[in-house]
Amino acid sequence: MTLPGSPHIAYRGDDLYIEGRSVAALAREHGTPLYAYSQASMLDALASYQRALTGRDHLICYAMKANSSLAVLQTFARAGCGFDIVSGGELERVLAIGVAAKKIVFSGVGKTRAEMRRALEAGVLCFNVESEAELTLLSEIAAAVGKTARVSLRINPDVDAGTHPYISTGLKGNKFGIAHEDALANYLRAAALPGLEVVGIDCHIGSQITDAGPYLDALDRLLELVEAIEARGITIHHLDLGGGLGITYTDEVPPSAETLVRSLLERIDARGHGHRKVMFEPGRSLVGNAGVLVSEVLYVKPGEQKNFCIVDAAMNDLMRPAMYQAWMNIVPCVKRAEPAVLLDVVGPVCESGDWLGKDRELAVRAGDFVAVLSAGAYSMSMASNYNTRGRAAEVMVAGDAAWLIRDREPVAALFAGEHLLPTG
Ligand code: LLP
Repeated sequence: MTLPGSPHIAYRGDDLYIEGRSVAALAREHGTPLYAYSQASMLDALASYQRALTGRDHLICYAMKANSSLAVLQTFARAGCGFDIVSGGELERVLAIGVAAKKIVFSGVGKTRAEMRRALEAGVLCFNVESEAELTLLSEIAAAVGKTARVSLRINPDVDAGTHPYISTGLKGNKFGIAHEDALANYLRAAALPGLEVVGIDCHIGSQITDAGPYLDALDRLLELVEAIEARGITIHHLDLGGGLGITYTDEVPPSAETLVRSLLERIDARGHGHRKVMFEPGRSLVGNAGVLVSEVLYVKPGEQKNFCIVDAAMNDLMRPAMYQAWMNIVPCVKRAEPAVLLDVVGPVCESGDWLGKDRELAVRAGDFVAVLSAGAYSMSMASNYNTRGRAAEVMVAGDAAWLIRDREPVAALFAGEHLLPTG
């Protein structure tokens, strides 16, 4: 039986499988909480972008904040991807797997001096600059270290992506990007500053976008600007249209990446910009549907008003429900032939906000495994150690093979860097 999300994560009879491996068997082997990923699902998602971009000068920069585990990065690096990073930490991670710096774009509203210096030394492809102050600082640092920083300005096109307020980024009230009306002045300034070379323009309007409309609106606004900037003698080599494409958690029907990209390219060509290099920064749409969080049911606790299913995964493992009231599908790893009961699936953390799913119909008993679906993006990468809980282990499945790609974090590691007060 298929489930919403990925065709590679489906029931065989009563057992949930990721590609050729039983999820319950993986949980028994590696323990829980456990993140398990389908590599085919990641590669299929990437192929959808690649099909639309064949024959174009392009670079797909995986927004690694969505899932920055090394084996996930390797999967995309081997398939030819570049990377979108937002911190010095992400830069080190991606360099650690041998990615060439010229495939890395550096985004983010608060780059530090040290991060800029390190990225310049490494030789990243481009800095996506988000303010006039950042432009000035980057120029100073580049001049000081004798390097040229290739820059693209992130424009805030003031377009409503129609998504959750916490993950909408392209509106005037957001902290992100340079306002559309200030863009030209900032390009003129960038072109005049030492140590900088203008190479592109970019925007990113939000995340979990399920409609092509806002993308096309943002693109139109961007192309208007490109024309105005080039009229002033500054060449824009690439258009970076950001990430943001949504996935199916329940009944959302986003366009496929292929359909979305094709319609954007058509618009680019129609407006006479077909010669430019095109870049995207997808995160969620590449990994979101590829992962599940597997958890063991610890207790089933009936109550007067609510029944609870207490599992061993918690908000520290998966923050999206607590933080965005995100609805994520929860299914049994082995189906029971019993009537389902309405219950809230909650974790052991001491917070009422520690829930993974509310009002779910599940037939479960203590000792069963459940899987939270579509947990490949912004799940493990947002995990914390709250309640002194070590982070989950991770497994990558590819066909009949399954590799442990991250050990469960041992408790001793959680306070290994701490220091006791002096005696006396
Ligand atoms: N580029 C930039 C500059 C970004 O800020 C982001 C995501 C992306 C690309 C990738 O966007 P995606 O394709 O994944 O939508 N934690 C939230 C999502 C935060 C997104 C932050 N920026 C969640 O769990 O829904």
